[in-house]
Formats: sequence, C-alpha cells, structure tokens
Amino acid sequence: MSKEELKRAAAARALEYVSDGMQLGLGTGSTAKHFVELLGERVRAGLRVVGVPTSEGTRADAERCGVPLTTLDDVDYLDLTVDGADEIAPSLDVIKGGGGALLREKIVAAASARMVVISDDSKWVETLGRFPLPVEVIPFGLGATRRALAAAFTEAGVTGEITLRQGPDGHAFVTDGGHWILDAHLGRIPEPPRLAALLSAIPGVVEHGLFIGLAKTAILAGSQGIRIVDRP
Ligand code: A5P
Repeated sequence: MSKEELKRAAAARALEYVSDGMQLGLGTGSTAKHFVELLGERVRAGLRVVGVPTSEGTRADAERCGVPLTTLDDVDYLDLTVDGADEIAPSLDVIKGGGGALLREKIVAAASARMVVISDDSKWVETLGRFPLPVEVIPFGLGATRRALAAAFTEAGVTGEITLRQGPDGHAFVTDGGHWILDAHLGRIPEPPRLAALLSAIPGVVEHGLFIGLAKTAILAGSQGIRIVDRP
C-alpha cells in the first residue's frame, strides 16, 4: 500500500468512533483530509454530525465535502476530534504543527471528550523530537522569544537549531491566527511534559506543538494492517 492508502485506511478506521449526532473536531493535514472526505460520504448517506475545523484549509475541505460546520462559540463541547500527527510516542504524547495549524488544533482537541490520532505507522517513535518541534510565536519581540526558547531548551536538557519557518514566497510563514512559527530541531525530547511547561511560560509563545495527555487513541496504518493504541 502507498503512504496515501495507509493514511486513508487509518482515517476510515476512525469513522468507527463516530456516531450519529456527534459534535466533531476536524483536524488538519493530509491524513485528516482523508477523514473529512470519508466523513462527507457518510453525511451524504444520512449521518448527522457537525464539525469544528482546525484550519481554514480544513474548513474549505469540509464545505466541499458537505460536512456541516459549527464553532466553539455555538457548541459547549466536542465529542471527538480526529487529527493527524507528526510524531506519536508510546505515551501518546504527540508532536503536531507541521502544517502550521497547531494552535487551533490544540484548542479543538482540548475542548473534546476524546482525541483520536490517525497516521501511517512511520509517525510512531520511541522518543519525540526527530521531527522539528513547531512553536507558534508572536512576531513582536521575536529575538527575545527566541532567546527565551533557547534558555528553556537548556533548562530541559535539550539543544538544537531554532529556525523561522518560511512560506512558499520566501517570507515568514503566517498561521491562520496571524502568528509566525519557530521550528526547534532538537533531535530528542526526553521529558516532553517538562519542556511543554517551560515553553508555555514564555510570553511570546502563543502555543507549542507538544500535545501532552490529549490523545486517547492512536490509529496507525502499516503494511501489516491497522494497529490501535490506547493511552496507557
Ligand atoms: C497540522 O498543523 C499538523 O499538526 C498535522 O496534523 C500534521 O502535520 C500531520 O499532517 P499529515 O497528516 O499531512 O502528515
């Protein structure tokens, strides 16, 4: 199976967690896009759900697929969020934000009773950090925020280059919230919860891509089939 087929297989399996009447968080990225498309097929066949998209891209996909949308102002809670990931550890701590949507993704996941992460099995790692950790920052005071990040990394016992993410036009990549993203090339994050707490305390950091304790289930598609892992 190709990687796209694996992603679609994981997305299809996540549909088993969806039932009629649910309020859903709709993730962002190529794997989550498969889920939105498959959900749209079910909606056209009569399934009644509403979704909160985690990016303008997902909003467009959901509208194209006929998935009715709502907002976190109009609903009090979400039953389930289905989203992709950049790395998944056995603890089900996750790195997200490779697509730049981590802020809305985390708000939506935190408002959900359950978060299910879907991916091909290449995202499964023993230790997080090989994928550069995205940190969404306010453009004002970027230098100070960058220095504070470096200090937090030292305190957490990790080190690595910090780069400003660029868009296709060569300028800083701008998130849906109007912020920038610093990618931290750390290689290995031995204690993700500790680093997450240090990053959250930096004033210029809007949010970071460490999703700690949010994912309850991971659906991993590989050449041998689908593996479902629940948070220990
Ligand atoms: C978006 O900001 C990310 O968190 C994505 O969910 C993550 O990058 C996974 O994307 P793919 O499914 O495209 O690998």
